[in-house]
Amino acid sequence: MTGTSSEDISPQRDAQLQFKREAAQAAVKYIEDGMAVGLGSGTTASVMIDALAARVKNENLRIRAIPTSEASGEQARRLGITLSDFVQDPILDIAIDGADEVDRKSLTLIKGRGGALLREKIVASAARKFIVIVDDRKIVDSLGSRMPLPIEVIPWGWERIQTLLISKIGARTAHPRTEKDGRIYQTDNHNFILDCVFDPITDATSLARDIAAITGVVDHGLFIDMTSEVLVAGQNGVASLRR
Ligand code: 5RP
Repeated sequence: MTGTSSEDISPQRDAQLQFKREAAQAAVKYIEDGMAVGLGSGTTASVMIDALAARVKNENLRIRAIPTSEASGEQARRLGITLSDFVQDPILDIAIDGADEVDRKSLTLIKGRGGALLREKIVASAARKFIVIVDDRKIVDSLGSRMPLPIEVIPWGWERIQTLLISKIGARTAHPRTEKDGRIYQTDNHNFILDCVFDPITDATSLARDIAAITGVVDHGLFIDMTSEVLVAGQNGVASLRR
Protein backbone atom coordinates (compact mmCIF):
# COMPACT_ATOMS: atom_id res chain seq x y z
CA MET A 1 0.00 0.00 0.00
CA THR A 2 1.28 3.48 -0.83
CA GLY A 3 0.50 6.73 0.99
CA THR A 4 -0.52 7.22 4.59
CA SER A 5 -3.82 6.07 6.02
CA SER A 6 -5.94 8.29 8.25
CA GLU A 7 -5.19 5.93 11.17
CA ASP A 8 -1.49 6.70 10.69
CA ILE A 9 -2.01 10.44 10.48
CA SER A 10 -4.37 10.98 13.36
CA PRO A 11 -2.10 10.00 16.31
CA GLN A 12 0.62 12.18 14.79
CA ARG A 13 -1.81 15.10 14.53
CA ASP A 14 -2.93 14.52 18.13
CA ALA A 15 0.70 14.57 19.26
CA GLN A 16 1.34 17.82 17.37
CA LEU A 17 -1.74 19.45 18.85
CA GLN A 18 -0.57 18.36 22.29
CA PHE A 19 2.88 19.87 21.61
CA LYS A 20 1.25 23.13 20.52
CA ARG A 21 -0.80 23.19 23.73
CA GLU A 22 2.28 22.57 25.88
CA ALA A 23 4.33 25.29 24.18
CA ALA A 24 1.38 27.69 24.35
CA GLN A 25 0.77 27.01 28.05
CA ALA A 26 4.45 27.61 28.80
CA ALA A 27 4.38 30.90 26.86
CA VAL A 28 1.28 32.42 28.43
CA LYS A 29 2.85 31.99 31.87
CA TYR A 30 5.04 34.98 30.92
CA ILE A 31 2.02 37.25 30.75
CA GLU A 32 1.29 39.38 33.79
CA ASP A 33 -1.53 41.66 34.81
CA GLY A 34 -1.46 45.02 33.02
CA MET A 35 0.72 43.89 30.11
CA ALA A 36 0.37 44.88 26.46
CA VAL A 37 0.69 41.70 24.41
CA GLY A 38 1.27 40.93 20.72
CA LEU A 39 -0.80 37.98 19.50
CA GLY A 40 0.63 35.90 16.66
CA SER A 41 -1.16 34.04 13.89
CA GLY A 42 -1.44 30.43 12.79
CA THR A 43 -2.56 27.25 14.50
CA THR A 44 -0.04 27.36 17.36
CA ALA A 45 -0.76 31.03 18.05
CA SER A 46 -4.47 30.22 18.01
CA VAL A 47 -3.97 27.59 20.73
CA MET A 48 -1.99 30.23 22.65
CA ILE A 49 -4.85 32.77 22.31
CA ASP A 50 -7.23 30.16 23.75
CA ALA A 51 -4.86 29.59 26.67
CA LEU A 52 -4.45 33.31 27.26
CA ALA A 53 -8.21 33.89 27.13
CA ALA A 54 -8.64 31.19 29.78
CA ARG A 55 -6.20 33.06 32.05
CA VAL A 56 -7.95 36.38 31.38
CA LYS A 57 -11.25 34.81 32.41
CA ASN A 58 -10.14 32.66 35.33
CA GLU A 59 -7.61 35.05 36.88
CA ASN A 60 -9.28 38.33 35.96
CA LEU A 61 -6.08 39.27 34.13
CA ARG A 62 -6.29 42.79 32.65
CA ILE A 63 -4.25 42.84 29.46
CA ARG A 64 -4.43 44.66 26.13
CA ALA A 65 -3.52 42.88 22.92
CA ILE A 66 -2.52 43.78 19.38
CA PRO A 67 -3.27 40.92 16.98
CA THR A 68 -1.18 40.14 13.89
CA SER A 69 -4.10 39.12 11.65
CA GLU A 70 -7.80 39.65 11.22
CA ALA A 71 -8.33 36.00 12.26
CA SER A 72 -6.36 36.36 15.51
CA GLY A 73 -8.14 39.64 16.27
CA GLU A 74 -11.53 38.06 15.74
CA GLN A 75 -10.64 35.08 17.94
CA ALA A 76 -9.28 37.30 20.72
CA ARG A 77 -12.31 39.59 20.63
CA ARG A 78 -14.71 36.65 20.70
CA LEU A 79 -12.91 35.21 23.74
CA GLY A 80 -13.03 38.47 25.68
CA ILE A 81 -9.46 39.73 25.24
CA THR A 82 -9.31 43.55 25.03
CA LEU A 83 -7.74 44.71 21.77
CA SER A 84 -5.39 47.68 21.56
CA ASP A 85 -3.38 49.56 18.94
CA PHE A 86 -0.02 51.30 18.60
CA VAL A 87 -1.47 54.65 19.71
CA GLN A 88 -2.42 53.21 23.07
CA ASP A 89 0.53 50.81 23.24
CA PRO A 90 3.50 51.93 21.11
CA ILE A 91 5.65 49.36 22.91
CA LEU A 92 4.44 45.87 23.78
CA ASP A 93 5.67 44.03 26.86
CA ILE A 94 5.69 40.74 25.02
CA ALA A 95 4.67 39.14 21.72
CA ILE A 96 4.05 35.41 21.27
CA ASP A 97 3.91 33.75 17.87
CA GLY A 98 4.53 30.51 16.00
CA ALA A 99 7.08 29.96 13.23
CA ASP A 100 7.61 27.72 10.24
CA GLU A 101 11.33 27.16 10.76
CA VAL A 102 13.76 28.10 13.52
CA ASP A 103 17.50 28.06 12.88
CA ARG A 104 18.93 26.09 15.79
CA LYS A 105 21.99 28.32 16.32
CA SER A 106 20.94 31.88 15.49
CA LEU A 107 17.18 31.54 16.26
CA THR A 108 16.50 33.30 12.96
CA LEU A 109 13.01 32.35 11.80
CA ILE A 110 11.09 31.73 8.63
CA LYS A 111 7.50 32.87 9.11
CA GLY A 112 4.52 33.59 6.90
CA ARG A 113 3.00 30.24 5.99
CA GLY A 114 -0.24 31.71 7.35
CA GLY A 115 0.21 34.88 5.28
CA ALA A 116 0.54 37.23 8.25
CA LEU A 117 4.29 37.90 8.13
CA LEU A 118 4.08 41.67 7.71
CA ARG A 119 1.90 42.39 10.73
CA GLU A 120 3.76 39.68 12.66
CA LYS A 121 7.07 41.43 12.02
CA ILE A 122 5.67 44.85 12.98
CA VAL A 123 4.27 43.43 16.21
CA ALA A 124 7.41 41.41 17.06
CA SER A 125 9.61 44.45 16.46
CA ALA A 126 7.48 46.51 18.86
CA ALA A 127 7.82 43.96 21.66
CA ARG A 128 10.37 44.01 24.47
CA LYS A 129 10.28 40.23 24.49
CA PHE A 130 9.43 38.04 21.48
CA ILE A 131 8.60 34.44 22.41
CA VAL A 132 8.33 31.84 19.65
CA ILE A 133 6.34 28.64 20.19
CA VAL A 134 6.95 25.58 18.00
CA ASP A 135 7.09 21.83 18.03
CA ASP A 136 10.49 20.24 17.57
CA ARG A 137 9.98 19.42 13.86
CA LYS A 138 10.45 23.11 13.13
CA ILE A 139 13.99 23.37 14.48
CA VAL A 140 16.38 23.18 11.52
CA ASP A 141 20.10 23.29 10.84
CA SER A 142 19.59 25.27 7.59
CA LEU A 143 16.76 27.67 6.93
CA GLY A 144 14.78 26.91 3.82
CA SER A 145 15.13 23.16 4.27
CA ARG A 146 11.48 22.49 5.20
CA MET A 147 9.62 25.47 3.81
CA PRO A 148 9.73 28.01 1.01
CA LEU A 149 10.45 31.59 2.10
CA PRO A 150 7.26 33.70 1.79
CA ILE A 151 7.79 37.16 0.31
CA GLU A 152 4.94 39.69 0.43
CA VAL A 153 4.76 41.89 -2.68
CA ILE A 154 2.37 44.48 -4.00
CA PRO A 155 -0.04 42.98 -6.56
CA TRP A 156 0.81 45.36 -9.40
CA GLY A 157 3.82 44.10 -11.34
CA TRP A 158 4.28 40.97 -9.22
CA GLU A 159 5.54 39.09 -12.29
CA ARG A 160 8.48 41.51 -12.55
CA ILE A 161 9.34 40.92 -8.89
CA GLN A 162 9.10 37.16 -9.48
CA THR A 163 11.58 37.45 -12.36
CA LEU A 164 14.05 39.43 -10.22
CA LEU A 165 13.77 37.00 -7.31
CA ILE A 166 14.82 34.20 -9.63
CA SER A 167 17.36 35.96 -11.84
CA LYS A 168 19.01 38.32 -9.31
CA ILE A 169 18.42 36.75 -5.90
CA GLY A 170 18.78 33.09 -6.85
CA ALA A 171 15.37 31.68 -5.94
CA ARG A 172 14.79 28.36 -7.70
CA THR A 173 11.07 29.09 -7.87
CA ALA A 174 8.87 31.99 -6.72
CA HIS A 175 5.26 30.89 -7.10
CA PRO A 176 2.39 33.18 -6.15
CA ARG A 177 0.37 31.57 -3.36
CA THR A 178 -3.09 30.57 -4.55
CA GLU A 179 -6.46 29.78 -3.02
CA LYS A 180 -8.10 26.37 -3.54
CA ASP A 181 -10.05 27.79 -6.49
CA GLY A 182 -6.83 28.94 -8.19
CA ARG A 183 -7.18 32.66 -7.50
CA ILE A 184 -4.08 34.39 -6.15
CA TYR A 185 -4.22 34.55 -2.36
CA GLN A 186 -4.34 38.05 -0.87
CA THR A 187 -3.01 38.91 2.57
CA ASP A 188 -4.92 40.98 5.15
CA ASN A 189 -3.02 43.92 3.62
CA HIS A 190 -4.33 43.02 0.14
CA ASN A 191 -0.89 42.02 -1.11
CA PHE A 192 0.33 38.81 -2.76
CA ILE A 193 2.77 36.24 -1.39
CA LEU A 194 5.49 34.68 -3.53
CA ASP A 195 6.61 31.40 -1.94
CA CYS A 196 10.29 31.19 -2.86
CA VAL A 197 12.33 28.02 -2.83
CA PHE A 198 16.03 28.62 -2.22
CA ASP A 199 18.94 26.29 -1.75
CA PRO A 200 19.41 26.02 2.03
CA ILE A 201 20.01 29.58 3.25
CA THR A 202 23.56 30.10 4.52
CA ASP A 203 23.57 33.89 4.89
CA ALA A 204 20.11 35.05 5.96
CA THR A 205 21.24 38.63 6.61
CA SER A 206 22.50 39.30 3.08
CA LEU A 207 19.58 37.43 1.52
CA ALA A 208 17.15 39.54 3.56
CA ARG A 209 18.93 42.74 2.52
CA ASP A 210 18.91 41.80 -1.17
CA ILE A 211 15.24 40.82 -1.16
CA ALA A 212 14.19 43.99 0.69
CA ALA A 213 16.03 46.10 -1.92
CA ILE A 214 13.68 44.99 -4.73
CA THR A 215 11.08 47.66 -5.44
CA GLY A 216 7.62 46.24 -4.83
CA VAL A 217 8.69 43.84 -2.09
CA VAL A 218 6.73 44.75 1.04
CA ASP A 219 8.52 42.34 3.38
CA HIS A 220 9.82 38.79 3.68
CA GLY A 221 9.47 35.98 6.18
CA LEU A 222 13.04 36.09 7.55
CA PHE A 223 12.96 37.29 11.17
CA ILE A 224 16.58 38.05 12.07
CA ASP A 225 17.82 39.04 15.55
CA MET A 226 14.27 39.36 16.80
CA THR A 227 13.72 36.20 18.84
CA SER A 228 14.14 36.44 22.60
CA GLU A 229 13.32 32.82 23.36
CA VAL A 230 11.97 29.76 21.57
CA LEU A 231 9.78 27.33 23.51
CA VAL A 232 10.10 23.98 21.76
CA ALA A 233 7.62 21.25 22.60
CA GLY A 234 8.48 17.60 21.94
CA GLN A 235 8.29 14.10 23.40
CA ASN A 236 10.32 15.16 26.43
CA GLY A 237 8.32 18.26 27.30
CA VAL A 238 9.05 21.92 26.60
CA ALA A 239 12.65 23.07 26.11
CA SER A 240 13.82 26.68 25.99
CA LEU A 241 16.28 27.99 23.37
CA ARG A 242 17.93 31.38 23.82
CA ARG A 243 20.68 33.06 21.89
C1 5RP B 1 1.71 32.91 9.97
C2 5RP B 1 2.90 32.38 10.62
C3 5RP B 1 2.71 31.26 11.58
O1 5RP B 1 3.15 31.65 12.85
C4 5RP B 1 3.50 30.09 11.09
O2 5RP B 1 3.07 29.78 9.77
C5 5RP B 1 3.30 28.85 11.97
O3 5RP B 1 1.99 28.41 11.87
P1 5RP B 1 1.46 27.11 12.58
O4 5RP B 1 1.53 27.35 14.04
O5 5RP B 1 0.06 26.95 12.07
O6 5RP B 1 2.35 25.97 12.14
O7 5RP B 1 4.02 32.80 10.42
O8 5RP B 1 2.03 33.92 9.05
